[in-house]
Amino acid sequence: MTGTPDLSEEDVRQFARIREDFTRMMLGYRFGMEQVATRLDILREESAELHVDNPIEHISTRLKSPESIIAKAARQSVPLDIAALREGITDIAGIRVVCSFVADVYRLVDSLTAQPDITVRTVKDYIAAPKPNGYRSLHVIVEIPVFLSSGAVHVPVEVQFRTVAMDFWASTEHKIFYKYEGDVPADLRRRITDAAATAARMDDEMAELLRAVHGAAADTGRE
Ligand code: GTP
Ligand code: MG
Repeated sequence: MTGTPDLSEEDVRQFARIREDFTRMMLGYRFGMEQVATRLDILREESAELHVDNPIEHISTRLKSPESIIAKAARQSVPLDIAALREGITDIAGIRVVCSFVADVYRLVDSLTAQPDITVRTVKDYIAAPKPNGYRSLHVIVEIPVFLSSGAVHVPVEVQFRTVAMDFWASTEHKIFYKYEGDVPADLRRRITDAAATAARMDDEMAELLRAVHGAAADTGRE
């Protein structure tokens, strides 16, 4: 290949070390994410087995690509070393949990964060306090230990809990935001925020319906 800069043996060794550290870091994030997803799956299957209404509609996981980790680190002036990344970029591992009802969201967050080896780093409750555009979801950054041959690493995982209605709104808003590259016309922005209020009313209405069907038992475990 032409145009390759001359690299010393030390450069090559250093590059190999960085690459290996990064690979190990990404493995840690993947295992941490899979462990948290498994905990959520267990809660879901347990409910299904016990014939309680399923609290989870679906769960998706995503690992940030090295390119977007580096881009975000540059945007936020986070140095490109493992400790700084772990501290400064907390959404390398992400899980989205979609529930039918708002009450399920809070119940699940409580069940997950009550697990003794899971610690809560931050909670952002955009359901109690929606963003100005109407965005609602509950974001929790948890840390879970992952045991590698080199020892335990405590991996942060961002878990977003939301209802089906919130998810529908967020994915539509995301599409519009990207279509307009962030510069959404004021009229559309207003309609998006109105639609968020409609989604919130839908959540309230569904909760009302559930209460009407299950009666007082709805407050004590739904059956
Ligand atoms: P990021 O740098 O984007 O991670 O923001 P942050 O660290 O301030 O966290 P925040 O809790 O505000 O949002 C994190 C994630 O929540 C985003 O990456 C999105 O997945 C989701 N999110 C937050 N706000 C919105 C929104 O207005 N619309 C949509 N569709 N998603 C949002
Ligand atoms: Mg974030």
